[in-house]
Amino acid sequence: MVSFKQRDIISIRHFNKEELLYILDLAKEMERTTYTDTLKDKILASLFFEPSTRTRLSFESAMQRLGGMVIGFADSGITSVAKGESLRDSVKIIEGYCDIIVLRHYLEGSAQLAADVVNIPVINAGDGANQHPTQTFLDLYTIQKTKGALEGLTIGFLGDLKYGRTVHSLAYALAYFGTEMFFISPPGLRMPRDSIDELKDRKVKCYENESLSGISKKLDVIYCTRIQKERFADPVEFEKVRGVYRLSKAMLEELEIKKDLKILHPLPRVDEMDESLDKTNYAVYFHQARNGVPVRKAILSAVLGVIE
Ligand code: CP
Repeated sequence: MVSFKQRDIISIRHFNKEELLYILDLAKEMERTTYTDTLKDKILASLFFEPSTRTRLSFESAMQRLGGMVIGFADSGITSVAKGESLRDSVKIIEGYCDIIVLRHYLEGSAQLAADVVNIPVINAGDGANQHPTQTFLDLYTIQKTKGALEGLTIGFLGDLKYGRTVHSLAYALAYFGTEMFFISPPGLRMPRDSIDELKDRKVKCYENESLSGISKKLDVIYCTRIQKERFADPVEFEKVRGVYRLSKAMLEELEIKKDLKILHPLPRVDEMDESLDKTNYAVYFHQARNGVPVRKAILSAVLGVIE
């Protein structure tokens, strides 16, 4: 039997196919209700040590729509971390003020570290270039809703596949669904070798390319990502790949593509996806961002144990 009660959500690797589908089904139910008081008296601590719009605000909206409360800070620079307090000490203290922690931090492994020191559930809202599991739940939900099913699709991941934590999480999850995967990036931003090896071990058909040409007609979904300037140690290396891909309506009109192609992007975008795409039937990234609320309502309800 599937149960998320009091579980940490650290890596998508910790969930099997049945568990992924359970949250997607629950999210569907959550879309039908706008406000309940199922999480009345529960407090979520929203701890963001890196910038965020969608993840932070959709978690906070989800919690409040379920009748719960949110504590947190708008700027980690005004917390005692600025005085030198460790993340370990900070979360140990904050544990006493809330029922669940949602943490985004620039260090890979930070969410696991927090989960190891507290006795309440920790949700990883992105740890460096590593994982962003709740984004994966909402990406799967969006693909399922817009394509009608998750099984047997062909997906092209485009952009920064080295640092793109959403890609790492999503590729792992889609391996359960017989997805064929094309990883399209400049040579310096390839999907990590261990991720490719893992996917191949799981019998996923996956290929690496440097452009969409020749493969665009096979794709049911393009999952576009931003080149993550903030993760480059050397700005010169970033300048070499800045603007290397720019999806636009005109570009798609020149490529051979499926009529029902859908384009997802975890957002924010910078210059990799032109606004000319926004009003086309291909664009689903704004719906994708909105799906953050029902999906995070589902996760919070399941983890805080109000839904069995
Ligand atoms: N998709 C995503 O993680 O967006 P934010 O950085 O705005 O939270």
